[in-house]
Formats: sequence, C-alpha cells, structure tokens
Amino acid sequence: MFNPARWPLRTKLLASIVTLFVVIIAIIGAATVLTTRNSLMTQVDAQLADAQRSLGGPGEGDAPGHTDGYHRAAPGLGGSMLRLTIDASSTANTIRTSENVVLTPGSISTLSKAQVLTLWNSSLGTAPQTVDVGGGLGTYRLVAVSRSNGDVTIVGMPLEPIDRNVGELARNIALMGLLGLVAVGGASFLLVRSNLRPLRRVAATAERVSEMPLGRGDARTDERVPTVDTDPRTEVGTVGLALNNLLDHVDSALDAREESEMQVRQFVADASHELRTPLASIRGYAELSRRETEPVPPSVTHALGRIESEAGRMTTLVEDLLLLARLDAGRELEREPVDLTRIVVESLSDLHAAGPDHVWHLDLPEDLDEVPEVVGDEARLRQVVINLLANARRHTPPGTVVTAGLAREGDDVIVRVTDNGPGIPAEFTPHLFERFTRGDVARTRTEGSTGLGLSIVHAVVTAHHGTVSVESEPGNTRFTVRLPIEPRGRLASPEAAGA
Ligand SMILES: Nc1ncnc2c1ncn2[C@@H]1O[C@H](COP(=O)(O)OP(=O)(O)OP(=O)(O)O)[C@@H](O)[C@H]1O
Ligand SMILES: [Mg+2]
Repeated sequence: MFNPARWPLRTKLLASIVTLFVVIIAIIGAATVLTTRNSLMTQVDAQLADAQRSLGGPGEGDAPGHTDGYHRAAPGLGGSMLRLTIDASSTANTIRTSENVVLTPGSISTLSKAQVLTLWNSSLGTAPQTVDVGGGLGTYRLVAVSRSNGDVTIVGMPLEPIDRNVGELARNIALMGLLGLVAVGGASFLLVRSNLRPLRRVAATAERVSEMPLGRGDARTDERVPTVDTDPRTEVGTVGLALNNLLDHVDSALDAREESEMQVRQFVADASHELRTPLASIRGYAELSRRETEPVPPSVTHALGRIESEAGRMTTLVEDLLLLARLDAGRELEREPVDLTRIVVESLSDLHAAGPDHVWHLDLPEDLDEVPEVVGDEARLRQVVINLLANARRHTPPGTVVTAGLAREGDDVIVRVTDNGPGIPAEFTPHLFERFTRGDVARTRTEGSTGLGLSIVHAVVTAHHGTVSVESEPGNTRFTVRLPIEPRGRLASPEAAGA
C-alpha cells in the first residue's frame, strides 16, 4: 500500500533525497537544454541576418562588389542552406524561380514545386521564421529579401542540426542524471543508515527495558543507553539522555517501593511474632482457669471456653500471617526429601477424624514406588495438603465425597484434592489465591475462617517452584498442585528472590 506517512524514517529520508535530486537534475537539465537551443537559434538567426545583408536586405545594403552575396552567405550549421529566388513576375499559379538550391552536406538538390509553393504561401519577411518545408527536408529558419530588381530571395537554414544537437545534449544530461541518481541513492542509503544507527541503539535499549519484568520485587533496570548516544547536542543524544534519566527515576522508584514493601513485611513478621507469646499466655491462663476445681458459675466456664477457642483461632491466624510474611521476605525453606505419599495418607486420616460426616477417598497409584520423594520443606508441604483437605471439608456439606490423589507426571509429582461439593462460583476463582479471600463471608467468618489458607498454599507451592490451579463446577471441584521432584535454585518466593 502506498502510504508514505507509514514509511520508516529511513525510507522517508531516502525517498526525499532521491526526489529532490531528480527534481534538481530535471530543472537544471531543462534550463541547459533551453538555453543551448536558444543560443543555437540566435546563431542561425545571426547567419541569416548576415546573408540578408549581403543580398541587399535591410542590414547594410548591398556591399559593393558583392551583389550576388551567394558566397558571403556561407552555408550555415552542418553546412546546410537553402536559397530560392522568385521572379518578380510570379503569381501563385505560376511561380518562376531563377535560383533554387538546397545545399546539404554531401549533396546539392532543388526544391520541389510543392515545397516552393509552401514557401510562397508562408508570407516570409525580414524577420526569421520557422517553417516546415515538407518533403523530407524538415523545418527551416527562413528570411525573405526583396532584391533591387523586384525579385525575392528566400534564404533558409535547417533546424535539424540544432534539434539533433539539443536532443543529444538532453540524452547526455538524462544519462548523467541517471548515473548520478544511482550514486546519490546508494550514498544516501549508506549515510542515512549510519546516521540512524544511534537512534536504533536507543530504541533497542528502550525495547529491552520494556521486556523486563519491572513488576517483580527484585526488578532492576541495569539497561542504559550507551554514553556515545547521550550527547545532548544531538537530537538522538537528547532522547538517549532523557531515556537514561527516566530509567534512573524508575530505578529509584522501584528501590523505594521495595524498601517500603520490605518494611511492611518486616512489620507484619515482627507483629505476628510479638503476638505469639501473649496469645500463648492467654490460652494457658484460660485453660488453667477452666481446670479450676473450685466451683465456678457456668457462665464463667462458658466465657473461659470461648476465650480459649478464640485465642486458639487467633494463634492460627498469627501463625499464618507470620508464615506468609516470612515467605514474602524471601526466607528460604528447608530442603529435604519429602515423602508426599505419607503426608497425603496422614493428612487424610487426620481430616477423616475431624470430619466423620464426609466420605474420604484415597487415590494412589498401584505401585507406590511410582511416586518418588520430592525435595522441599516437609512441614510447609503438609500444610498445603491439610489446607486443601480442610477446605474440602469446611466449604462442602456433610456427605460430600473428598478424594486425595497422588501421581507422577514427568519430572513432577501431582497432588489432587477433588470433591463433589457445591463448587466455587466462577467469578470468584480468579481471586481465590489472594489473601483474605472468602466465598461466603457471612458463613465462613462465623466458622473461624480467615481466607489465608489458599494464599498460603499458593505461596508455599510457588516457593517450591511448583504451580497450583483449580477447576470448579457444581459437583466437581478440583485443586491440582504440581511440584517438581528436584526443584532448581533456592526454595523461596520468586517475588522476593532479590530480597
Ligand atoms: N473445596 C471447596 N469447595 C468450595 N469452596 C471452596 C473450596 N475451597 C475453597 N473454597 C472457597 O475459597 C475460599 C478461600 O479459601 P481459603 O482456604 O483461602 O480461605 P478459608 O478456607 O475461607 O479460610 P482459612 O483457610 O484461612 O481458614 C473459601 O472461603 C471458600 O469460599
Ligand atoms: Mg481454607
């Protein structure tokens, strides 16, 4: 499609230079051709004026001793000339000529009757005129001179040599112009390319930066425009310098963000840690008071029971927060061989004891050796399995069938927790692994749910370089955890890898 506005700068510059060159060459060429033609015509006219004078025309009159003038009016350009003397007694029907010569290089001929008639009809005068004589002779520049005896002599010079010379000149100019065009095109292509190279370097830097994951916690833009391209006296340098300044700002903004994130994480970690001791005391004292042997009013016993259970809940919450804060801060997990089969079996039996109203199934491969141990943090991985199973118990009605499965797929071990409960609303699943996300807030809150369970699952699995996903529809909800058998690199949250 021909749309110059969409062309790359390179092409535009090249096209402009070439167009400009063609226009300039055309103007110069046309001017040269025109002036050359004019000056040749002037020469011819001057020779005709000479001939006129020698024949006794209006110039200087007949020079004595040269009445004929034939020899003085020497043949013109290319040695060609025409002379025709028409007798005074001629009429349009009978033209009598006393002289009829056409001199061309190498031959002498005469004008035909038709050509004589053409000249007769051309009403020639003393001012030179261009007439097509016809009959293969072409155009001539002609003047007519009235002789003293009443005869009229017509003298002419052909324009063919002028046209030939001028044509040759035009062809030469065109040829030179074409060669020049190729040279100018090639040279400007190279020049434009080398002059745009700095711009390409700046663009390449910007492109590399745009591909960097700046959203990540450890984001740093070490990319900078090379110093050669940051000279503010050049246009590209201005852009390069501005880009570098921008990148400096981005870097310091990222630093500031990470700094404040670190502070928040540290604060949450410290606060959770500090809360553990007083919570343990509250629980301890509540338990102690409940075991009091002295008679205590039932309302007080009930209140103490509530204090104990709420303190227990708060302890779980604080432990969850502390774990998340530590994972966020990039705290490295244990790296030991973990038998996931044992974890799944044990967790399932724990949940079976806690939720006897549900139906619990185990789906292990026939050959237990098929599922190898994975490298990871046993306590955290156990928490993952328990959180998933606890959800399947807590968020489904009694009688729901919950299946815990284990399988190997390539270099990964897959843990699947499936239930045939009511499922998770589709609009809710994208935020499922975010913190404090709960489905039925009114109900779950009373049941002591905080909405941290799945975010812990996500954080732990990600720290193990694994993935967790969910598919849910009414009657079939499935959480799939994929863990690499031998995770490469540190076992820590990738978001905080640089921390
Ligand atoms: N198997 C499931 N069936 C139906 N809904 C589920 C299931 N698992 C999770 N959910 C929904 O996802 C929400 C988030 O689960 P998550 O484990 O993060 O929090 P929670 O169970 O509410 O609280 P916590 O686990 O911190 O005590 C739950 O509140 C629940 O609405
Ligand atoms: Mg949960």
